[in-house]
Amino acid sequence: ALLAISPKPLAGRKIIVTSGPTHEPIDPVRYIANRSSGKQGHAIAAALARLGADVRLVSGPVGIADPADVTTQHVETANEMKDAVEQLLPADAAVFVAAVADWRSETSAGEKIKKVAGEGPPALQMIENPDILAGVGHHRKRPSLVVGFAAETQDLVSNAEAKLAKKGADFIVANDVSHEGGVMGGDRNKVRIVSKAGVDEWPEMSKDEVATRLAALIAERLKTVVV
Ligand code: CTP
Ligand code: CA
Repeated sequence: ALLAISPKPLAGRKIIVTSGPTHEPIDPVRYIANRSSGKQGHAIAAALARLGADVRLVSGPVGIADPADVTTQHVETANEMKDAVEQLLPADAAVFVAAVADWRSETSAGEKIKKVAGEGPPALQMIENPDILAGVGHHRKRPSLVVGFAAETQDLVSNAEAKLAKKGADFIVANDVSHEGGVMGGDRNKVRIVSKAGVDEWPEMSKDEVATRLAALIAERLKTVVV
């Protein structure tokens, strides 16, 4: 008898994933950053790779290992992350899990800023960072499937719906970061999948389980897309 080996559902698909925080320098020893362990983004990259995808992970500074079977690039700042992601286009899908710093100091001092008696703290002039997800969501080389995250502490669904429209995403994975137990740095997550079709509430589960389920959803969505 013939043994039919079913190909992995994401074989031949190139998928970009961002993960971790970004660090925006103030001077050689100081930076501004978001809280992010990279656990959820790295787990998603690994789950997509298990389904056979050619995963290109762009990671900010994290304390965890590169995921298995994933091509990982390390960056520091939002601008570096944006350049790395855009260099990777075209792709079949892109998943934006990184907690990108929304603002950076307009200038980064070449030397360590010293405390000067009587002068008080330096006044940092902040400017906005580029929105990497929105850039890709509206890009001429936009992937067929664009997935964003929304970390919220209030008005979870309405904020996620606004981000879906503004950023040109197909799905927003919304998580309440004030959720009891602490999503930030923890191993569990409770998310809602927000799309034009409505809101799908997933039960609380581990970040690995969220990753596995999201990878399956992405595979399902890409099935109808011709390579
Ligand atoms: N994102 C991005 N580039 C940025 C900011 C956010 O790619 N400069 C992506 C994140 O990776 C995430 C989504 O956009 O997938 C939403 O990030 P979030 O911080 O929740 O939304 P913001 O648009 O930055 O709005 P706010 O922080 O004010 O809630
Ligand atoms: Ca933000």
